Amino acid sequence: MVHFVGSDGKIVSAEASEGDNLLTVAQIHDQPLEGTCEGQMACSTCHVIVKATDFDKLPAATEMEEDMLDLAAGARRTSRLACQIILTPDLDGLTVHIPQESRNMQVL
Ligand code: FES
Repeated sequence: MVHFVGSDGKIVSAEASEGDNLLTVAQIHDQPLEGTCEGQMACSTCHVIVKATDFDKLPAATEMEEDMLDLAAGARRTSRLACQIILTPDLDGLTVHIPQESRNMQVL
């Protein structure tokens, strides 16, 4: 099970299986993550902010992922690209926030 916290605070909980890609799970559950490059680390539209206590359970980001996160609007210390997170049993209960900025950009 993973939990998505929307920019409006609404929580969507989703069943997921080992080996699932977090971006795919998010999109199946109608989360507003575009994932324009489909996991090629060439965009940052799958940017999520991971709950601090879950962040340490994730494998470290590659240099390429860090570079993309530098370009992501509203990136924080616990930001990650959802397309690079492959779910494992250890990550059960993972909670990620959908960045506020993605919504703001659509409004403006
Ligand atoms: Fe483009 Fe994740 S989908 S970086």
